[in-house]
Amino acid sequence: MNVTKKLLLSILLVFCSFPTFSHAQEHGSGSMPTITTNDLNNPNATLEAKNLMKYIKSEVGQHILSGQMDNGNATTMYQKTGKYPAILGLDMYDYSSVPVAMGKKSSQVEKAIAYHDKGGIITFMWHWIAPNMTNKSKWASGEFTKNTSFDVQAALNNPSSKEYQMIIKDIDLIAAQLKRLQDKKIPILFRPLHEAEGGWFWWGAKGPEPAKKLYRLMYDRITNYHHINNLIWVWSSVKSDWYPGDNVVDIAAYDSYVKSVSSNNTASSKYQQLYSLVKGNKPIAMSENDKIPDPDLLKKDGLKWSYFMTWRDEDNLSGSFMYNTDSYLKKVYNHNYVITRDELPKGLF
Ligand SMILES: *[C@@H]1O[C@H](CO)[C@@H](O)[C@H](O)[C@H]1NC(C)=O
Ligand SMILES: *[C@@H]1O[C@H](CO)[C@@H](O)[C@H](O)[C@H]1NC(C)=O
Ligand SMILES: *[C@@H]1O[C@H](CO)[C@@H](O)[C@H](O)[C@H]1NC(C)=O
Ligand SMILES: *[C@@H]1O[C@H](CO)[C@@H](O)[C@H](O)[C@H]1NC(C)=O
Ligand SMILES: *[C@@H]1O[C@H](CO)[C@@H](O)[C@H](O)[C@H]1NC(C)=O
Ligand SMILES: *[C@@H]1O[C@H](CO)[C@@H](O)[C@H](O)[C@H]1NC(C)=O
Ligand SMILES: *[C@@H]1O[C@H](CO)[C@@H](O)[C@H](O)[C@H]1NC(C)=O
Repeated sequence: MNVTKKLLLSILLVFCSFPTFSHAQEHGSGSMPTITTNDLNNPNATLEAKNLMKYIKSEVGQHILSGQMDNGNATTMYQKTGKYPAILGLDMYDYSSVPVAMGKKSSQVEKAIAYHDKGGIITFMWHWIAPNMTNKSKWASGEFTKNTSFDVQAALNNPSSKEYQMIIKDIDLIAAQLKRLQDKKIPILFRPLHEAEGGWFWWGAKGPEPAKKLYRLMYDRITNYHHINNLIWVWSSVKSDWYPGDNVVDIAAYDSYVKSVSSNNTASSKYQQLYSLVKGNKPIAMSENDKIPDPDLLKKDGLKWSYFMTWRDEDNLSGSFMYNTDSYLKKVYNHNYVITRDELPKGLF
C-alpha cells in the first residue's frame, strides 16, 4: 500500500510539473471535446508509459507527432528535412518462431534502444508469420491469408491443440523482446494484429470474433502473465464489430493509403468513425500512411490525429519517397503543427 501511495504521489508530481499538460484545455477547438480519461488500461503501467500517454493526450489537437517506419528511412527524413521523426516505427517480424527457425536475426530492439537514447518515441508493429509455416520458399510472406492455411479460429477454439500452443509460444517470444525494452525503461506504442478487419492477414481471415479473441488473449498473456507494463496498446481497425474493447485498447488507429502524391485526403471520415468508436475518450492515430496528411488541412479541418507514421519506402512502390516529394517533406517536418524528435520533452519517457 505504502509503496503504491508513494508511486502515485511521484506520478502526480511529474504531471503537475509537466510543461505542455494544460494546453489541451486552453486551445481545444470547437466540435471535438477534450479527452477526459487519463489512465492507461493497465493499472501497473510504468511511469514512462504513463508519462508518454499523458504527453500524447496533452498534444491532441495541439500538434501532430511525426513518425517514420524503418530506422534507415528515418535517417533519410533527417537528410531531406533537417529533422528526425518524433516516432520511429519498427517491426517484431523476425522474432517469432518461424523466422527464427529459418535462421533470421533481428536488430529491431537494438534500433529501438538507440533511437530512444536520442530522445525518440518507439512504436512496434508485428507482421506475425503464421506459426506453422514450414515451406522455405513461402514462409516470408506467411502473415498473408493467401499464403497460409493456418486457421486462427480452430486454434483458439482448441486450447489443447498444438496450433494453440504455437500461438502462445510466439506471443511469449515477442513478450521477451518487449521485456528487454521494459528493462531499459523504454515505453512502446505496441500495435499487434494490425488491419485485422481487412482480412488479408491470417489473424483477420476468419472474421471479427477470432481476431478480437486473439487480441484479448495476447493482451492478457503479455500484461497479466508476463507483467510487461511498458506498453501503450494501439488497435488499428475501424469497424465497430472488430473492436476488442475499451479496456484493452489505449489508442485507436487507422492505416491510410491514398496512393497519390497530390492527394489532399486527410482521412476525415475514418477519423470520425474512430472518434465515435472510442466516444472521444482515446487518442486517434494514423498508424500507417503513404502521403502525409497536410498539416495546414488538419488544422483547418480540426482533425486531431495524434501522429502519422509514414510507411517505409519499398522499391519506390509505396510510402515515404514516392508519395511525399522532398519539398513537401521539408514543409511537413518544419511545420509548427508538426512535432519532430528534437521538440519532444526530455527525460519523461
Ligand atoms: C527504407 O526501408 C526499406 C524497408 O525496410 C529498406 O529496404 C530501404 O533500404 C530503406 N531506405 C533507406 C534509404 O534507408
Ligand atoms: C512451397 O511453396 C512453393 C511456392 O509457393 C511451391 O511451389 C512448393 O510446391 C511448396 N513446397 C511444398 C513442399 O509444399
Ligand atoms: C503472399 O501473399 C502476397 C499478398 O497476398 C502475394 O503478393 C505473394 O505473392 C504471396 N507469396 C507467396 C510466396 O505465395
Ligand atoms: C497449418 O495449420 C493449418 C490448420 O490451422 C493446417 O491446415 C495446415 O496444414 C498447417 N500447415 C502446416 C505447414 O503444417
Ligand atoms: C499489479 O501490481 C500489483 C501490486 O504490485 C500486483 O498485485 C498485481 O498482480 C499486478 N498486476 C499485474 C497485471 O501485473
Ligand atoms: C490539393 O489542394 C491544392 C491547394 O488547394 C490544389 O492545388 C490541388 O489541386 C489539390 N489536389 C487535389 C488532388 O485535389
Ligand atoms: C527510388 O527513387 C530514387 C529517387 O527518388 C532513386 O534514386 C532510386 O534509384 C529509386 N529506387 C528504385 C529501386 O527504383
